[in-house]
Amino acid sequence: MIIIKTDRLILRSFMEEDLQGFSEYRSDPEVARYQTWNTPYPLEQANFLFTEMSKTEPGTPGEWYQIAIERKDHPGIIGDCGFETKRYDRQQAEIGFSFAQPFQKQGYATEAVRGLIDYLFSTFNLHRIIAICDVENQASVRLLERLGMRREGHYIENIWFKGKWGSEYLYAVLKREWQINETGKNESHNFSVIK
Ligand SMILES: CC(C)(COP(=O)(O)OP(=O)(O)OC[C@H]1O[C@@H](n2cnc3c(N)ncnc32)[C@H](O)[C@@H]1OP(=O)(O)O)[C@@H](O)C(=O)NCCC(=O)NCCS
Repeated sequence: MIIIKTDRLILRSFMEEDLQGFSEYRSDPEVARYQTWNTPYPLEQANFLFTEMSKTEPGTPGEWYQIAIERKDHPGIIGDCGFETKRYDRQQAEIGFSFAQPFQKQGYATEAVRGLIDYLFSTFNLHRIIAICDVENQASVRLLERLGMRREGHYIENIWFKGKWGSEYLYAVLKREWQINETGKNESHNFSVIK
């Protein structure tokens, strides 16, 4: 069980009450547009994922672990984020994230992903965290750059994705860079992990 708290949010393992909301926002074509799943995303598929997650130890190399995101002042899933420690190198991890449309553009994603990166660097012996996004996914590009991640790669038509060749950016941040960046920031940075 993971519980990460930020100023406004709680990031935690999935609960049965999340099924409906999770299935609904994953069924939104705009949310799914640059993601691997297709719409609709039925309850059965959500249930299968939740069951898989309940059997997965967070940080197991080669296995994604997805985490629900809810507001502290209002229960209910508003999005999720996830990470995968790499099988080829357990000191490197990849992250991903999605928010239901009504909860986008309010800074929640920035706050949640910052909390996730804090958690990952402080909990696992990670050296580097990466994120991969479609070059057309401008909201994701802005989010990753806002977090101070560096664009290290621009792959041209490297992936057959939803009926056409897609191009992707690879973003990365090292632990020492994250620590320096975050220390240099003056904004409040409230984060705690409950194990
Ligand atoms: C990618 C994604 C998570 C980004 O979410 P987001 O809502 O843009 O990010 P935030 O919640 O951090 O909001 C930041 C934006 O809200 C604005 N904003 C408005 N009110 C704000 C507030 N009170 N505090 C902070 N930012 C606020 C910011 O200016 C910023 O706008 P900008 O991107 O135009 O510069 C979201 O677009 C999403 O879920 N997409 C679908 C799934 C997906 O594609 N995931 C990524 C795959 S790589």
